[in-house]
Amino acid sequence: MNIAVVGTGYVGLVTGVSLSDVGHTVTCIDIDNEKILKMKQGISPIYEPGLSDMMTRNIHEGRLHFTSDHQEGFESAEVIYIAVGTPEREDGSADLSFVEQVAKDIAFHAIRNTVVVTKSTVPVGTNDKIQSIIDESLVQQVNLEVVSNPEFLKEGSAIYDSFNGDRIVIGANSKEAANILEEINKPFGVPVFKTDIKSAEMIKYASNAFLATKISFINEISNICERLGANVEDVANGMGMDKRIGDKFLNAGIGYGGSCFPKDTKALIQIAGNVEYEFELLKGVVKVNQKQQGLLLAKLNERIPDLTGKRIAVLGLAFKPNTDDMREAASLVVTENLIYSGAEVMAYDPVAIDNAKKILNDDVRYASCVEDAVKNSDATLILTEWDEVRNVDLDVFKSMNYPLVIDGRNCFELEEMKDNNIEYHSVGRPV
Ligand code: UGA
Repeated sequence: MNIAVVGTGYVGLVTGVSLSDVGHTVTCIDIDNEKILKMKQGISPIYEPGLSDMMTRNIHEGRLHFTSDHQEGFESAEVIYIAVGTPEREDGSADLSFVEQVAKDIAFHAIRNTVVVTKSTVPVGTNDKIQSIIDESLVQQVNLEVVSNPEFLKEGSAIYDSFNGDRIVIGANSKEAANILEEINKPFGVPVFKTDIKSAEMIKYASNAFLATKISFINEISNICERLGANVEDVANGMGMDKRIGDKFLNAGIGYGGSCFPKDTKALIQIAGNVEYEFELLKGVVKVNQKQQGLLLAKLNERIPDLTGKRIAVLGLAFKPNTDDMREAASLVVTENLIYSGAEVMAYDPVAIDNAKKILNDDVRYASCVEDAVKNSDATLILTEWDEVRNVDLDVFKSMNYPLVIDGRNCFELEEMKDNNIEYHSVGRPV
């Protein structure tokens, strides 16, 4: 199939590259010409394991193309994916202006019947709106049908997830359009679930909101465990053995971050509010998440009430491992607070430092390895559970002024920290 993908952010690029890898001819379109020139050479604008290799291979085999020219991109497309951003507005709702503009562009350039696939996460009812915009803006007498096909990839394992996902959801008004999308996705070997458009849109929000709920739930349990002297990891393991609960997404920590959960939970609260329904449970989930980041700092403040001039090592800046994405990362709030309290911050992350430099407080300093970050520090805070952090030789903490480790990700066993005389505060486990 000839496919065009509009938007080469995280979702669009991974979608385009993996569709080319299973044999489709794909043109990725983006308005950022500089980015297009780099991608043409196989340089990925995001850090995602396996993505650059897959890009390079498919460019060489002539199946993957990049352009900033909409007309060129749409010329031979039988199917066009919309994968542009839907950023959060101040009130928590999703800003749909990019999606709507792309819908107009598609209609303007359309010269044949085309299936238009919405990959961007859009509020329930948006696909109907996109269909109306397209129908109103068509120049030629052609039929464009909009299909909802939400994305469930996780950053850091997106390529793996493309070929090993749990489901592909297709929401369509006609069997014909749904079947075209099913056929496109057949080579991935992932189970397909077909439904109506509104339900497909809701599946995306409900799934992210449910996962966020699991995280806030276990974080609340962890806070109670700390007060009672129980161990949240054992609690989660014991709970997870019940197949109805499942053992995934029960890792207590410093709350969820990233470009999806924080934005999508707030958007779903808005979506419900728009139809006069108060989503009380989800409001609680969001509140708990905001509280959770502060708890790590509270533990530090309890141990070191005056941070003026204290040197604090921060390990991990990205919102989770295997990504350089800093969006809604706990490190934003944590480093800002540390600097505000007069601390000297020495941060380390294996891949996110370049992105961090663009957004973190200018006073944050950066180390080139875990060892350099930790050396001579008064406390070490762990924000991201990179393997490099998990597997560090514990002797490294002996180079601190005093071995105080406050871990927001439970990277180490309690026993090993005790055996190494490290004062270790983790999440939901006894000190
Ligand atoms: C999430 C969903 O998992 C994907 O299915 C979805 O496609 C994506 O959002 C999206 O809507 O595009 P992602 O944001 O890449 O994917 O990251 P996750 O692996 O889900 O982690 C999100 C946050 O939750 C991270 O900050 C992570 O540290 C935190 N988390 C996750 C926990 O604190 N505990 C857990 O047990 C799991």
